[in-house]
Amino acid sequence: MIIGIVAIADNLAIGKEGKLPWHYSADLKHFKQTTTGNAVVMGSNTWRSIGKPLPGRLNIVLSRRAQLDSADDLLFLRSENEAVDLAKFLNCDLYVIGGAKIYAAFAPFIDSWIVTEIPETIENADVFMPADYLDGFRLADVQELDGGLGVKRYDRA
Ligand SMILES: NC(=O)c1ccc[n+]([C@@H]2O[C@H](COP(=O)([O-])OP(=O)(O)OC[C@H]3O[C@@H](n4cnc5c(N)ncnc54)[C@H](OP(=O)(O)O)[C@@H]3O)[C@@H](O)[C@H]2O)c1
Repeated sequence: MIIGIVAIADNLAIGKEGKLPWHYSADLKHFKQTTTGNAVVMGSNTWRSIGKPLPGRLNIVLSRRAQLDSADDLLFLRSENEAVDLAKFLNCDLYVIGGAKIYAAFAPFIDSWIVTEIPETIENADVFMPADYLDGFRLADVQELDGGLGVKRYDRA
């Protein structure tokens, strides 16, 4: 399965100045638990923001121009189609972990979305999800994390 995983504020913000504009340890823990043992794919901006491969996961970074070396748990690919082709041969799920450009590129391929709802409006955010990203999906599961954050899973209808 190809699964989008995103944390999103009330005003659809997901990023500010190259970073996550909030810190919720319960959500980071949920992200780690959900994605560990699987593959994750991210854009080069998100890769720069994270700074190192996420442990216990195959880290795929997409870039059209960066000359980067792959390592054991790190693979640089040139397009979403290369990642989608690779995912067919993986015995695990591929989690699309952002940012906005990568979510947009994978939108046609995503089977489910896992969405953490951040109960904040982020002023001066500079990266947003499109308002219609859940069109064609239906709510399949609702979960509450420690501290009361809501996480919803949406499956393609
Ligand atoms: N809230 C969340 O859940 C969440 C999750 C992840 C990230 N974020 C935030 O989102 C922001 C970053 O998002 P962003 O949209 O600016 O950047 P991004 O999607 O992380 O990276 C964009 C870059 O990825 C490469 N790329 C994009 N589409 C591609 C494609 N189809 N094929 C090959 N390469 C492709 C390009 O790199 P090159 O220019 O190198 O070619 C492009 O400049 C940060 O603030 C980050 O903290 C938030």
